[in-house]
Amino acid sequence: MDAAGFLWQSIRNFKEMGTVVHSSPAMCKKMTAFIDHEKDKIIIELGAGDGVITQYILDKMAPDARLYSFEINEELCATIREKINDSRLVLINGSAENVELYMQQYGVERVDHIISALPFVLFPEALTENILMSCRRLLKQGHYFIQMHYTRNLIKIYQRIFGQVKVFSVLINIPPGYVFKCGS
Ligand SMILES: C[S@@+](CC[C@H](N)C(=O)[O-])C[C@H]1O[C@@H](n2cnc3c(N)ncnc32)[C@H](O)[C@@H]1O
Repeated sequence: MDAAGFLWQSIRNFKEMGTVVHSSPAMCKKMTAFIDHEKDKIIIELGAGDGVITQYILDKMAPDARLYSFEINEELCATIREKINDSRLVLINGSAENVELYMQQYGVERVDHIISALPFVLFPEALTENILMSCRRLLKQGHYFIQMHYTRNLIKIYQRIFGQVKVFSVLINIPPGYVFKCGS
């Protein structure tokens, strides 16, 4: 999807999108920097958009790894299907709030990483809390929940749910943002 198409989706669904432009290459790199090519075999992505971070995740994954990407917007899912043809990708046109249910259906108990671009600042607090708690239950011990934000406002909720949180600035992005690395 080109920039104009992404902008159009954002205008129509701003409360779900939370941005009007794709993440920059610098943001995509930082979001995927903690993936271990050898060890990380099951990864979840939340809020895939039109697949810009999805492709970076796949590029870092081993041939026998699997990526479960969630995207609630059907048109964005159609774009991902058109542009990414990779048997390691399971694209789920559904809401992140049901992530545990979906993983149960796929027979997945625990995952190595969760990489999220969900715009939690626009979500009701209870929904954010539910999604983050599901993610904590799904994550293997000692693995990371990675979240992109344009503000540090919500840091306390991540600290409460995941314990340790490290914040990295990504200046080359519109707008400049942060990557939260949650977990120990
Ligand atoms: C900030 S955009 C990120 C898009 C892309 N990953 C990027 O970095 O450019 C957030 C995405 O989350 C999706 N989204 C919002 N709420 C969702 C939910 N409950 N479950 C799954 N995806 C959701 C939106 O449709 C949107 O595509």
